[in-house]
Amino acid sequence: MNDLQGKHLVLGLTGGIACYKAAELCRAFIKEGATVQVVMTEAAEQFITPVTMQALSGRPVYTSQWDVREPNNMPHIHLSREADAIVIAPCSADFLARLVHGRADELLSLMCLARPIERVPLLIAPAMNREMWAHPATQRNMAQLASDGATILGVGSGFQACGETGDGRMLEPAELLEDIVAFLQPKALAGKRVVVTAGPTFEALDPIRGITNHSSGKMGFAIARAAREAGADVTLVAGPVHLATPRGVARVDVKSARQMMEATLAAVPRADVFIATAAVADWRPTSESGQKIKKDGTGQAPMVAFTENPDILATVARSERAQRRELFCVGFAAESHDLLAHARAKRERKGIPLLAGNIGPLTFGQDDNQLLLVDEQGAQELPRAPKLQLARTLVAEIARRLPRT
Ligand code: C5P
Repeated sequence: MNDLQGKHLVLGLTGGIACYKAAELCRAFIKEGATVQVVMTEAAEQFITPVTMQALSGRPVYTSQWDVREPNNMPHIHLSREADAIVIAPCSADFLARLVHGRADELLSLMCLARPIERVPLLIAPAMNREMWAHPATQRNMAQLASDGATILGVGSGFQACGETGDGRMLEPAELLEDIVAFLQPKALAGKRVVVTAGPTFEALDPIRGITNHSSGKMGFAIARAAREAGADVTLVAGPVHLATPRGVARVDVKSARQMMEATLAAVPRADVFIATAAVADWRPTSESGQKIKKDGTGQAPMVAFTENPDILATVARSERAQRRELFCVGFAAESHDLLAHARAKRERKGIPLLAGNIGPLTFGQDDNQLLLVDEQGAQELPRAPKLQLARTLVAEIARRLPRT
């Protein structure tokens, strides 16, 4: 996906060993369709060369405010005016302090000071030793920078180049990319709480076996990510899947439909939106054997009795808050044929304002999908696209339908 298509980013590097990760970050920005202008401090040049960063960004790197390539000698003005965002990665403790004080005696801090503050966001990826990170001066500087309008992207924790272990590592390039892409998305769900169910459920027969289905959880995870990108506080109730948790999303892992129900009912009372993407098993074995069910040599298969599982979506949709539309419920339908007719009928049966229909075999396990959105007014097709792109459109469609607050 080209998540940064049409965006121009200024990537600022300051002195720190994490500069080696900035090379990969630059590459990731370019792969996502951004244009990147790299600016480096003198200290950054001790860790990685401008040659490397020029090769990766495809543009000569700026390192000095006295750069003779500038006709008017003002790189700090034109570099900052062109940017959709300035990202400082890595940002050293010293550079944080420089930004706090509005220092302007070298190009990068000068450019940050000269940026139009309302139009060009400044995103900071700190990187330093854990003691430097924990120091009251650094923490004070961070708080000041945040109140001056910068966005602090946080730090990672773990083994550090200095040999110590703790907080202060720069986030990994993939994490920074996800956060920066999210930052640049429209904030249609700012201040809203969203609960999403995703994946299959697993209904145990005995300690070894159970009944499940082919749902990969990809659509639900993409929706959770898109809702988070749109500014929502997101709880993702996930059945057994092997997917990374989208950044900034609170995940609750469950196995069975009844566990999914319990986790959902715990989360929805404070939610504004509930999106039921999970492929919940319709039935579960009536009893779960405490021990493995063994072959008994007679050739007779064991008889298994089934009990219907609770319908999580229908239960939530019947709640008072959902009835008053304080909780907006969205369902999914995986069908094999006659999608429109089935999707319409299912929306009515579940008593929900919006339902997204898809063809099961065309979506399970795939990275893309196509959706048919059905509401009271009619139906709208979202053509085949990556699941994250569909999820962003769905989130925008949900936001459009929420009561104005
Ligand atoms: O009835 P059906 O399973 O086709 O409905 C699909 C929709 O209902 C999905 O949104 C699914 O997450 C939700 N559902 C549920 N609990 C169930 C069965 C389905 O929340 N037990």
